[in-house]
Amino acid sequence: MATGKKPWSGRFQKATAENVETFTSSIHYDQRLYPYDIEGSIAHATMLAGQKIISKNEAAKIVSALKNILKDIEKGKFKFNPADEDIHMAVEKELIKRIGETGGKLHSARSRNDQIVLDVRLFLRTEIKIVIDLMNSLQACLIEMAKKEIKTIMPGYTHMQKAQPVLLSHYFLAFEEMFARDVQRLNDCAGRLNVLPLGAAALAGTGLPIDRNRTAKILNFPEVSKNSMDTVADRDFIAEFIFAGSLIMMHLSRFCEDLVLWSSDEFGFVEISDAYTTGSSIMPQKKNPDVAELIRGKTGRVYGDLFAIMTLLKGLPMTYNRDLQEDKEPLFDAVDTVKDCLQIFTEMIKHTQFNAGKMFFAAQGGFSTATDIAEYLAGKGVPFRRAHEIVGKIVAYCLKNKKGLDNLTLKEYQEFYKDFTADIKNIIKLEKAVNSRNHTGGTATAAVLKRIKEFEKSLN
Ligand code: ARG
Repeated sequence: MATGKKPWSGRFQKATAENVETFTSSIHYDQRLYPYDIEGSIAHATMLAGQKIISKNEAAKIVSALKNILKDIEKGKFKFNPADEDIHMAVEKELIKRIGETGGKLHSARSRNDQIVLDVRLFLRTEIKIVIDLMNSLQACLIEMAKKEIKTIMPGYTHMQKAQPVLLSHYFLAFEEMFARDVQRLNDCAGRLNVLPLGAAALAGTGLPIDRNRTAKILNFPEVSKNSMDTVADRDFIAEFIFAGSLIMMHLSRFCEDLVLWSSDEFGFVEISDAYTTGSSIMPQKKNPDVAELIRGKTGRVYGDLFAIMTLLKGLPMTYNRDLQEDKEPLFDAVDTVKDCLQIFTEMIKHTQFNAGKMFFAAQGGFSTATDIAEYLAGKGVPFRRAHEIVGKIVAYCLKNKKGLDNLTLKEYQEFYKDFTADIKNIIKLEKAVNSRNHTGGTATAAVLKRIKEFEKSLN
């Protein structure tokens, strides 16, 4: 696929080997940067004309041709040539094809080294907004679910063992807190990446009289980068985004893991809609939570993207090195995977039924109000450690005699501690246990409703 003369061929005696062209080319994936590459070039040409580095006439020709190229790409009329090295070369080649030599003036005071960082920053700036919107939809959905399930009591687990009863709403809000922090991280990242790199040129800046603030203004960057070497060398903003994305995936994955477990016959806490599950090719009775499993699986993929970028950057000598071309596939993969997963997870959760009866029944088992009895005794002045021991003995007695905490008589309670009174029967009711935890962060209905209100306010 020899492409003929390269824009950089001046000092070369021999043509590039064909397999080197293929090996070094990134056009098959970086072509998706075309709207940003063209937007950046239009801003750059406008600034060049403002500074009289090129004439107004030349800039007008360049800008109009770039706009036409953009339209043609969008209409599918322009086919990227697999032989083009990257998106910058592809667009520039087409520009020169359309307007001749003048097209060659666009690259004044610019290098692909600052151009690629610009493209990626513009790309990520747009994509982060989409990810945040998807997060906000999920957050809104969880709030609706928390409101709907405000009376549903479920067993809360630690070590996968029934621990204490909680509201299902409280469980949903746990993820709401995690997702809220994820959004904060995305916003932080969006703020830090919103810096104009153009003007750094290859690594040292340019001798031509550019106006970086003008370019920044056109492209809506509140700031220009302050060190040309840093600008072309670092990709920390990519690592930061993928890390934020990895945490989003980790949170989704944990939610999915519960859904997978809870849709088993053993739990039966949830029923994911037929539309968001799949069947088995051999076992006719099966309905599998494949969407949840795939989100869990794809989390590993995004972690892989994070490791790829971290390893890519480690040990790179200053400043730009071609290794950096390998930053885009992990970034694109992370962006696409996170967006896909957020979208489908939100739809799936909207189409999931929570079985309040089964959850309540399960919450009654496992002595899940044992802590309430210990706290009851502590309230009567028994040192908590002593109270813990007394209740431990009560549980052992129940296990031995196949009884639950709720079918012991007051007399039996009193055999373990004389000051038990009749109100103990009330203490071990699930609703009572849940509603006793009425403080910021607790699972009481009032505390959860308060948090729902706060979330509703911050989301609007
Ligand atoms: N395709 C390259 C990348 O993604 C663009 C910059 C190439 N610069 C260079 N001097 N070869 O990083």
